[in-house]
Amino acid sequence: MKKKIIGVVLSGAMAATFLAGCGQQQQAQQAAEQQVQQAVEDAVAEAVVDQAVEDAVDEAVAEEVVDAAVDAAASSDGLIHVGFAQVGHESDWRTASTKSCQDVFSEANGYNLDFVDCDNDSAAQLEAVRTFIQNDVDYIIIDPIVSTGWDTVLTECDEAGIPVIVIDRTIDDSDKYVSWVGSDFLTEGKAAGEWLKAYAEANGINEINALVISGSTGSSAQIGRSDGFREVADREGWTILDEQTGDFTEDGGQQVMESFCKSYDGQFNVVVCQNDNEAFGAMTAMDNAGVSYGPGNDVILISFDACTAGLEDVKAGKITADFECNPLAAPTVAGVIEAMEAGEAPEAEILVPDNWYALADAIVDFEIDGVPQTMTEVTDEVIEAQY
Ligand code: AHR
Repeated sequence: MKKKIIGVVLSGAMAATFLAGCGQQQQAQQAAEQQVQQAVEDAVAEAVVDQAVEDAVDEAVAEEVVDAAVDAAASSDGLIHVGFAQVGHESDWRTASTKSCQDVFSEANGYNLDFVDCDNDSAAQLEAVRTFIQNDVDYIIIDPIVSTGWDTVLTECDEAGIPVIVIDRTIDDSDKYVSWVGSDFLTEGKAAGEWLKAYAEANGINEINALVISGSTGSSAQIGRSDGFREVADREGWTILDEQTGDFTEDGGQQVMESFCKSYDGQFNVVVCQNDNEAFGAMTAMDNAGVSYGPGNDVILISFDACTAGLEDVKAGKITADFECNPLAAPTVAGVIEAMEAGEAPEAEILVPDNWYALADAIVDFEIDGVPQTMTEVTDEVIEAQY
């Protein structure tokens, strides 16, 4: 910068000498002075810009140093860092699942949990997993909203060396995870079908005309329950009048049932809701349409999940049978992580056991693929113990 100023000063002086020779010494002197002043101003402006750039670089470097220090502190806090990409908050079941995970993966239990509620949005769920990779968590837990579209992001987890554990719903198009912990949805669907067959026989019901309010389309919970129930329906020659998604929500269940009540007025005697929240909405719609349901009424109402409020409706004689999907898988997932921390290979698949619930009058003997099933009678104590 100094060199530049001196250069301009010298060239200004030379110009002055030349113009003096031409008899215009004063004008030349002024021109030279202006040139020098301009050069000094330019130089000062350039120096200000240089300083600003230098300050910005210093600031960025300082920020990086702080980030690195925070990362280092985080990984040296002695806690196991877990990222959990949860489906959303659509149902009582989901609330129980989230609470169970937050209780199990607490700081008191040696974990640092990064919990993301993906609000039933698959794109948000993929983004959550990628953020966990960037944050270099120790383990990633995914409850997949839908069962496909996973291989690319699971490959990224694999390349980053972060083990993935799948909870509840399954992933069908990739095997790049260490373990899956959850319920058998196909068996749940078959249980509903086989129970209905035995219940109908025991109560002299010869014809089944069913409406199905299914869960979120493309989720393994929906696919398994639909396939399992349909397998029995096809075998028994029942009519499934319609199947529409209620997205596992109360509002969704109510909307679908309102439309079913209009379209199939007087034609149906069974309603299958793929979770309790859909059943709550369906009951509101049937109440409004003057359709009676529950044991001994117009409609046999079947539900899944068996959450506390669902079992209360079984006890009240509204839901005829409720097929559990146990949301308390988190302690088992913690066991998988503990095994890996100890250098052991975890089990690839761990089934969480489910129960089938009804009032005493609706408890019937049935089998699934030749295996006799046991039903649990809903009592106040059973409800009290439920999630
Ligand atoms: O994936 C489990 C299912 O998802 C539960 O049955 C339902 O309530 C939840 O939304």
